[in-house]
Amino acid sequence: MDVLSAMKSRRSARAYLKRPVPRDLIEDIFTGAGRAPSAINLQPWEYTVLQGEEKDRLVRLLLKIHAERKVSCGPGTSGRLPERFAARSRLASKIMTPAIEKMGVPFNRFIEEGSCSFYGAPVAVIVTMDRLFPKIRYLDIGLSVAYLLLAAQGKGLSTCPIGLITAYGDEIAEAISLPESKEVVLGIAMGYADESAQVNCVKTDREPRQEIVSWYE
Ligand SMILES: Cc1cc2nc3c(=O)[nH]c(=O)nc-3n(C[C@H](O)[C@H](O)[C@H](O)COP(=O)(O)O)c2cc1C
Repeated sequence: MDVLSAMKSRRSARAYLKRPVPRDLIEDIFTGAGRAPSAINLQPWEYTVLQGEEKDRLVRLLLKIHAERKVSCGPGTSGRLPERFAARSRLASKIMTPAIEKMGVPFNRFIEEGSCSFYGAPVAVIVTMDRLFPKIRYLDIGLSVAYLLLAAQGKGLSTCPIGLITAYGDEIAEAISLPESKEVVLGIAMGYADESAQVNCVKTDREPRQEIVSWYE
């Protein structure tokens, strides 16, 4: 699959088959993720992969903490979200809602508990960065994560980035024995998507190209 096709076909999967992912395939994908560009080649990204009982243990922990604290997905902006951004988020929720409602689970509960359980994916990835880096290095992490998502897509796997669980970053750090010098910046669910699940059949919208690109020539 060429890169542009992977970009166009990728979407976040929120239901996975139990089918295990071969270790060499996962390693190949991380080799790709590690090839991302970064400022002065710092490569500030670090990944922890959890599978099997290790992943299940983390999921149990996250669900337990979530039941107590109930953090929900939000924009996390310092001020009120301008309408044009809010509308995009509303539209994504609207597109996903019918498939989620058919499962008989409230939308927020599906997203929150699903996120905490990596949507049942066999592979859970925790993305971390050393705290000594300035926040601008999140940009480099984002590039590497994008490489990872696309590499996975190209290899027939699906993914879902999971930011919600960073609210429980301290507990995740303890569970994976992360030193205090490092911070949890993202989770990623990875595996073979259950293509029969309706929630995986929805595709979120995007602004037309003209809305995001300005030309001067
Ligand atoms: C940084 C980041 C954090 C995200 N966090 C979550 C999350 O916690 N739970 C979830 O279900 N999806 C999460 N997503 C997935 C987005 O909801 C999704 O990418 C967006 O709606 C666009 O849909 P698509 O990925 O299917 O194209 C996150 C995506 C990104 C990039």
